[in-house]
Amino acid sequence: MTDSLFAPLTLRDTEFRNRVMLSPMCQYSADDGLANDWHRVHLGSRAVGGAGVVMTEATGVEARGRITPGCLGIWSDEHAEAIEPIVDFVRSQGATPGIQLAHAGRKASHRPPAEGGAPIPTDDPEGWETISATDTPYPDGDRAESGEPATTRQMDGDDIDQLIESFADAAARSLDVGFEVAEVHAAHGYLLHQFCSPVTNDRDDEYGGSFENRTRLLREVVAAVRDVWPDDKPVFVRISATDWLSDRDSWDVDDSVRLAPLLAEAGVDLIDVSGGGIHPDQQLPGTGPGYQVPYAEAIREGTDVPVAAVGGITDPTHADALVRNGRADLVAMGRELLRRPYWPLEAAHELGADVEWPVQYRRGQFD
Ligand SMILES: Cc1cc2nc3c(=O)[nH]c(=O)nc-3n(C[C@H](O)[C@H](O)[C@H](O)COP(=O)(O)O)c2cc1C
Repeated sequence: MTDSLFAPLTLRDTEFRNRVMLSPMCQYSADDGLANDWHRVHLGSRAVGGAGVVMTEATGVEARGRITPGCLGIWSDEHAEAIEPIVDFVRSQGATPGIQLAHAGRKASHRPPAEGGAPIPTDDPEGWETISATDTPYPDGDRAESGEPATTRQMDGDDIDQLIESFADAAARSLDVGFEVAEVHAAHGYLLHQFCSPVTNDRDDEYGGSFENRTRLLREVVAAVRDVWPDDKPVFVRISATDWLSDRDSWDVDDSVRLAPLLAEAGVDLIDVSGGGIHPDQQLPGTGPGYQVPYAEAIREGTDVPVAAVGGITDPTHADALVRNGRADLVAMGRELLRRPYWPLEAAHELGADVEWPVQYRRGQFD
């Protein structure tokens, strides 16, 4: 079958019904990391709406790895049990449930955007000390005026061992409750990106300095997740292909093309290609339709590793062309799927693709 947006994709032995992925999106609505009715509706309705892969928001592998106190977590069995019925429902609708395993590092301990997004200082009852590749806190710019940043501690060897174990334990719990894709979050200036980028990594041990050293923690985390994730199920990694900081020593697309085959060797099946987030000075080249697609394309062309493209993709014909023209294997969509949870059903109609509607909604199916 010709690859197209509504052709299935098989990675390992896991088949996605189509190439549309709900992009991970923080909801800032969890109770001490526990999923609730909001997550049930958010994730469940995108599964009803026809997405192929339904990815959770960044889900903390440790409590201190959450961006905000309202972020989802999977650091205990109680967290896994809370999300299990949601995972079951997503699967019952024919979508493949994925979990984005995350640690925010020095970008943790923040207020949610709806409350201004300022950092929460460590001595605030709601804040905590963050950990990172560095002991320099994240420079929040204007937002810092409304709150001191939390203190940041440079991780030592024990912290690193514990972190790798936290990712592996979180993956094992995710598997137990039925997730079929594990995505390691190494983008947007969060902890694993903080290690990879020379902007934030000022270490002089085997985790700092050279490209090989800076990417070591990510490769170790991926290997630990792959170790517990079964052979028939895919592992994704989301990266920021570039720091968008060409005025200084920073991570760029060439680094990403170099990293991709190393991740594939470590057992990664798809790279979800995003950008930025490491420093507020970043200069985005624009945010028009498909603004990050060239990075996904560069990685796919340079390495043959399957990729997801994300960023400003809203139009069915555009999304379909990305797959047909071999620019991406999956199309991740964020804000458009917030606006239109049933976008895949509408897009399939527009593209003349034959997709199955939920039986309850068939009376609403386009003629
Ligand atoms: C409300 C919101 C929350 C987000 N949270 C996450 C997240 O948890 N993890 C992540 O990797 N990206 C996150 N993102 C980025 C999106 O996944 C996506 O990459 C970005 O919005 C660009 O895609 P779009 O133009 O289709 O929205 C978030 C974006 C939004 C709008």
